[in-house]
Amino acid sequence: MMFPNNFTWGVATSSYQIEGAVNEDGRGRSIWDDFCDTPGKIIDASSGAVACDHYHRWRDDIALIKSLNANAYRFSIAWPRVLPNGTGRVEQRGLDFYDKLVDGLLEAGIEPYATLYHWDLPSDLQHRGGWANRDIAEWFADYAALMARTLGDRVTQWMTINEPWCVSFLSHEIGEHAPGLRDAKLARQAAHHTLLAHGRAMQAVRACASQPAKVGIVLNYEPCLPFDANNPDDVEAARLADIQDPFHGWFTYPVFRGYYSPELMAQSGPAAPNIQPGDMAIISQRNDFLGLNNYTVGRFCLKDGKPVRVRNEAAEYTLMDWEVAPEGLHSLLMRLHAETRGQVPLYVTENGASFADQLISTDGDARVHDERRTAYLLGHIEATQRAIQKGADVRGYFAWSLMDNFEWAKGYQQWFGIVHVDYATQKRTLKDSALAFRTLASRAR
Ligand code: FCB
Repeated sequence: MMFPNNFTWGVATSSYQIEGAVNEDGRGRSIWDDFCDTPGKIIDASSGAVACDHYHRWRDDIALIKSLNANAYRFSIAWPRVLPNGTGRVEQRGLDFYDKLVDGLLEAGIEPYATLYHWDLPSDLQHRGGWANRDIAEWFADYAALMARTLGDRVTQWMTINEPWCVSFLSHEIGEHAPGLRDAKLARQAAHHTLLAHGRAMQAVRACASQPAKVGIVLNYEPCLPFDANNPDDVEAARLADIQDPFHGWFTYPVFRGYYSPELMAQSGPAAPNIQPGDMAIISQRNDFLGLNNYTVGRFCLKDGKPVRVRNEAAEYTLMDWEVAPEGLHSLLMRLHAETRGQVPLYVTENGASFADQLISTDGDARVHDERRTAYLLGHIEATQRAIQKGADVRGYFAWSLMDNFEWAKGYQQWFGIVHVDYATQKRTLKDSALAFRTLASRAR
């Protein structure tokens, strides 16, 4: 495969999913600690209390990333580690952890891509209303400023919020993620506040980092595709579904056009978010790049003139029950390239697949022959390459995930890692997908 020489080959993780050490060095509680403590929320009643023990094993994990030939690592900062109550008192030991991590990455020749928020909100802020409270835009901007002052002499790539759709709708309306609420109005208000917080954090990072900073957001997408691309009805169904697509309507449009989808606003009725004068200008200021997370697509047929989502029986599905469709990533990249008029560099900040793995040991030599995950990754990387050839400005690809980890409400029952983790011993083993990634990424070194 042909990629530009300076292409970013990265692996991604998030703090709560890998760090563990939830009670160490003054870390405050997060909404995920609380959620995991609530019976029935996590499928296997587990938590991120230990996870991959990355908080203690970060040196080895940096060596692991280096062994994959990756030239970039996307990680997230746990807000409650550095500000145990979300605002106010700073925990120096928390700052020191990320300080050392960043130094270690740079020494290993790996560029840090820091995400400020990947879902572990300090519990004290939830008690003050969390994302539903408009004040969170300022709490988040203060936290962003603290991190930019601490790491901004070495970190130049910043991501504000990971998947604000999950932060708002999945967590406040569907109730599947912390804080587990089911309220349409709250979800839409939270969505608006995530974007306001994103805009304010971009300003804070740019103002406080001592090196010129690149700042952007990470949005998730499930492109709407026709069930059968040769059937005009299905094509129409996908078009209609796209008009109501929440990922574009609630996130791409406000960030890049400065307004919410009129269809979604109208549909929301009294649940539409309250917007104050000046908000949309903060939300739609210049992004240095757009990070996009993509795992699957939605397939649509037409029924009584309306789009209905259907299962594509002919396709392969992952253990998450997500259809494998690399063409979705390709069309998404072309769409976002057009949406941003080619002026905003794109990064695939997450892409990967969960399948059950088998660790095979022969003579002390352990292997995981994860053919399906390998094929998934190569198929999506190839789809990315085709988009670049057609002119999309894609600067990098991050595999989700560096290693098996705590998959939120699915606990430890999903395996997205290209590195296998034995949770009893914390031993890491490169899967075949990691070996394939290493070969591809070798051109980056
Ligand atoms: C994304 C999340 C990431 C991981 C993958 C499978 O939505 O950002 O933390 O859970 O899905």
